[in-house]
Amino acid sequence: MISWNETTILNVAEMDSQHQRLFTLVTNLHQAMASSQGADNVSRALEELVAFTQLHFATEEALMTRYAYPEYETHKQEHEHLLQDVGQLLQRFRDGDVLIPFAIELDLEAWALRHIESRDKQLALFLNSKGVF
Ligand SMILES: [Fe+2]
Ligand SMILES: [Fe+2]
Repeated sequence: MISWNETTILNVAEMDSQHQRLFTLVTNLHQAMASSQGADNVSRALEELVAFTQLHFATEEALMTRYAYPEYETHKQEHEHLLQDVGQLLQRFRDGDVLIPFAIELDLEAWALRHIESRDKQLALFLNSKGVF
């Protein structure tokens, strides 16, 4: 299971609370799959996770634009690659592949920890230097 610890706290309130919410939604998806609550619940948890991920990326991208972040393009590209991968997996799930939520959970978990500790950390330090906490 995904772990939430000090290394994932970035000291930018909006980013931290959204990351926390993302981890909660990943946990919800995991529980929906583990407790055989039915395909509808898995589907709902998955759609909610993907929608919130899109919202979170848009929030970070807006912050980057507002403060003229120099690494904007690189950071945004990482977001877009993840959304493309998840979008393809989501389509396969809608087409009937019931094992897809497991792949999405694992993908997103690994990706998020890596991304938060590198790209998001850099962005947070930049925002802190602009007085944003
Ligand atoms: Fe990011
Ligand atoms: Fe993030």
